[in-house]
Amino acid sequence: MTDRHLSGPCVLVVDDEAGILESLRILLKNEGFTPHVALGGRQGLDQIESLAPDVVLSDIRMPAVGGLEILSAARQKDPDMPVILMTAQATLQSAMQAVNEGAFYYIQKPFRNDELLAILRRATEHRTLRVENKTLKQEIRRRDKSVGGRPIGKSRAWMDVLRLAETVAPTDSTVLIQGESGTGKEVIARYIHDLSQRTEGPFLSINCGALPESLLESELFGHVKGSFTGAVKDKTGLFASAEKGTFFLDEIGETTPATQVKLLRVLQQRQIIPVGATEAVSINTRLLAATNRDLDEEIRRGTFRRDLYYRLNVIAVHLPPLRERSDDIPLLVDAFLQRTAQQRSEPPKQLSESALEMVMRYPWPGNVRELENALERACILTDNGTIELGALPEKLSTHTPERLVEERATPNPPLDVIERAYILWVLQSEGGNKTRAAEALGIDPSTLHRKLQRFGAEN
Ligand SMILES: Nc1ncnc2c1ncn2[C@@H]1O[C@H](COP(=O)(O)OP(=O)(O)OP(=O)(O)O)[C@@H](O)[C@H]1O
Ligand SMILES: [Mg+2]
Repeated sequence: MTDRHLSGPCVLVVDDEAGILESLRILLKNEGFTPHVALGGRQGLDQIESLAPDVVLSDIRMPAVGGLEILSAARQKDPDMPVILMTAQATLQSAMQAVNEGAFYYIQKPFRNDELLAILRRATEHRTLRVENKTLKQEIRRRDKSVGGRPIGKSRAWMDVLRLAETVAPTDSTVLIQGESGTGKEVIARYIHDLSQRTEGPFLSINCGALPESLLESELFGHVKGSFTGAVKDKTGLFASAEKGTFFLDEIGETTPATQVKLLRVLQQRQIIPVGATEAVSINTRLLAATNRDLDEEIRRGTFRRDLYYRLNVIAVHLPPLRERSDDIPLLVDAFLQRTAQQRSEPPKQLSESALEMVMRYPWPGNVRELENALERACILTDNGTIELGALPEKLSTHTPERLVEERATPNPPLDVIERAYILWVLQSEGGNKTRAAEALGIDPSTLHRKLQRFGAEN
């Protein structure tokens, strides 16, 4: 580390005359710069490398290594490093050429001190602007990358998901992402792709539930001309199009047994056979899959192949429903309100205190997507800066614990079902705060802890 920020811009002075170096060093130091001197071009090259100065001030004509070489070394080290060349009348021509090649400035010897200082100040200012500009651009690119970079959330459960995604991203393993509808399965799939070594390659996805079997297979594997009515020319399938990239099979639970057999072969052999083709084609694609179904249950019922499940489920990522991570809600609310404001070119709106309370309490069966839609709608319905409860879906205000018990329970629910539902509801109303929930329930925090463990709601 250097203390450059405290001590003025670092200027490297290169000249083959020790006397000039010394007088410039004193001048610059007195004017608040941090001068370093190099006697001759060779030392200059070394110091550009080791010091990475903010500005270089170099004589143009020196034996062995001259100013133009200093210029090109500086530009190579850092294109934003300004170089000021000092020139005598005889070398004016090459100085002007140097400016064309990217020197920041040249100054003709003999020069006045205030002239040199003015140029140096401009050069450092210029550099600061360039560097700031670059940092800003990088920031923008980072933000653009997946609408917010890291998927939003700070709850323990969500952080565990992100950590797992970050760990598996650089491997080439197949990942099965499971979670209720709207929990962010696609968001996580993209995040894994973005952090993987395939990030420069394509990210393609298909919703397996959206197409009839015959079309799905030709979309996935491609087909050869004439293989069925309508196949008028060869078609590359998505597996092949995602070459060197990632292929995301969404709603994998919706595939038919016939398609499942074919997918199994792809996973086992890393090869596809286009519809109507006789030869297999090797593919280099990473597979991610997602489902909102309970695949264990599907396997028991015989609608999903166990062997395919094992192949897909090399790494399992479970996305917790939003009601189990209400800590994430305020962050998501802020992000969605910000985004809507940007889209509508208006200042961001806020939830009133009571509206936020209701948003935190509501169990959001449609998870993040439902929250996102509710907020977007509320923004449209609200003219001023504060979103009140009335602009949010009515079910938020009508949702009560009694209804929750009604909704969840069979006609005569056993007491423990009601107890579980009620305890979880109170916990949720208290924003996940166990101490406050225990207080509201009139039980000891350790009792609450035990009950939650029994419900499997706490690890
Ligand atoms: N952590 C998050 N940060 C930001 N946005 C999120 C997050 N999670 C979900 N979203 C947003 O919520 C919506 C639903 O997410 P996504 O499509 O990934 O869910 P899904 O689990 O694939 O849903 P479905 O099962 O319905 O396909 C999207 O608009 C997504 O941008
Ligand atoms: Mg999805």
